[in-house]
Amino acid sequence: MDNKFLLPKKSERIILLQRIDLASPFEKKLRKLFGRYIFSNFITKYFLNKKNIASNYYETMLNEYFSIKHLINKEDKLFLSIGSGIGGLEAIINERLDNKSFYFIERNYISKKVKYGWGGMNNAEAYNNFDLQKQFLENNGMNKNNFYVFDYDRDEFPIMKFDIITSLFSLDYHYDFNLYIDYLKKVSRNDTKIIFDTIRADYFLKIFKNVEIINTELDTVHKSKRIVCRNFI
Ligand SMILES: C[S@@+](CC[C@H](N)C(=O)[O-])C[C@H]1O[C@@H](n2cnc3c(N)ncnc32)[C@H](O)[C@@H]1O
Repeated sequence: MDNKFLLPKKSERIILLQRIDLASPFEKKLRKLFGRYIFSNFITKYFLNKKNIASNYYETMLNEYFSIKHLINKEDKLFLSIGSGIGGLEAIINERLDNKSFYFIERNYISKKVKYGWGGMNNAEAYNNFDLQKQFLENNGMNKNNFYVFDYDRDEFPIMKFDIITSLFSLDYHYDFNLYIDYLKKVSRNDTKIIFDTIRADYFLKIFKNVEIINTELDTVHKSKRIVCRNFI
């Protein structure tokens, strides 16, 4: 992956919708001018400048990897990603660390009205495509026996004890953490690291014995914090 990902054809649009910070200043202006509906359904479909997305997405995901690298030990083998998008972060982890298995819970559609905000229990936003995600992961070095993709809307979730659970700008950023709380209790040990972005870090002091802020993001719409939580109360 020489400083850029190998992107499947037509994946640029979902990557941009998943990571709106990859839009150029001009595209961001168009989004402001025409609104989110026209931006997600027309502008990104027909007028997207695809040129730098492979390298910019790689750089963004590499920085995300650096933000959590210190939390990953050699013994950590089982990874769960909730709302991973196409999987850039996991491709980077996989490239650097041996013998990992990756489980993904995502959604397999693109909502018509992409709203990059807090949806609470409403939980209706999605912008992913499983064919593109699987192709992306294989293109970027992941062996197809090492990853499993589960559809939030159709599949039974995997039941096992995970070592690391990540959800960047998804769980408790778009939709309420409580949608997953019972499931996460089932699939975590006391030392499982659960890493996600939230605007209400303090709230999690009531849910976990151990909550640590690892990053504060002042540029996102919500000025969120990245936290790592361990050990449900
Ligand atoms: C803003 S994107 C972030 C993608 C990726 N984590 C990243 O940082 O680039 C949010 C992702 O959450 C997914 N999503 C939305 N609702 C979900 C749910 N209930 N469970 C799992 N994933 C969900 C969307 O399809 C989308 O890919």
